[in-house]
Amino acid sequence: MSQKHGKFLIVANWKMNKTSQEAVAFAEFLHEKIGKKTEVNVVICAPFTALGALAPIFGDSNIGLGAQNFYPENAGAYTGEISAGMLRDLYVNYVIVGHSERRQIFKETNEFINKKVLAALEASLKPILCVGETLAERESGRAIDVIKYQLVECLRDVPAHLCEKLVIAYEPIWAIGTGKAATPEMAQVVHGAIREFLKEAFGRHADKISVLYGGSINPDNAQLILAQADIDGALIGSASLSEKPLLDIVKIAKKLNKQQIPTLEEV
Ligand code: PGA
Repeated sequence: MSQKHGKFLIVANWKMNKTSQEAVAFAEFLHEKIGKKTEVNVVICAPFTALGALAPIFGDSNIGLGAQNFYPENAGAYTGEISAGMLRDLYVNYVIVGHSERRQIFKETNEFINKKVLAALEASLKPILCVGETLAERESGRAIDVIKYQLVECLRDVPAHLCEKLVIAYEPIWAIGTGKAATPEMAQVVHGAIREFLKEAFGRHADKISVLYGGSINPDNAQLILAQADIDGALIGSASLSEKPLLDIVKIAKKLNKQQIPTLEEV
């Protein structure tokens, strides 16, 4: 069980929501509530337009700043795009790659996502690589094969010594934004397979990789999902857009941490 080696990681994916002003108000609230707490790692993946304003708010806190996308070239004639270096310049330390919305709407391929993973690592950005199956793939019994294929293709050429910088998010596509999360057991089966794959690919280094679950996570289902052996945290979309559900999920993670980390008497 990997989370024994670290803390839960709770990542908010705000998607195309919140103006810079709205993001700042939310970030100030979060900073006040959990900015100094260290029991759970929290990362906010905000729209590009808010990143510059959020960096100074989270600067001296335990809350990390993430982006939702970037283009895997250093600079040049790529109108409308943002490089990893530009994100680093705004003190961004995480970036989501391979999200199913980018795969489906923007036609991003595993090959392109692999370029992003490598470029992010090169720029010292931690890629949060999303993988997951469609409903048809699940119903035809191919979920694990599809996910393994995505992992093989998207993690190609990642050196073992850098794999600790990776975060993997299992996001079944049929669970994203539908209110219909995977059952804890279903998620655990996939997470177990992902953990095995990572061990085979990266050896002992793989233990340090956080594997998150995403897809309709909310305060009502978070406890059972996060309690699964191979689930190290959550990637949260809609429930991360308001203060209460996000803080409730962080609280649930904190409580589970306490239950899992042995006290001094137990050691
Ligand atoms: P959701 O989104 O929590 O709204 O299902 C998750 C995601 O897309 O990362």
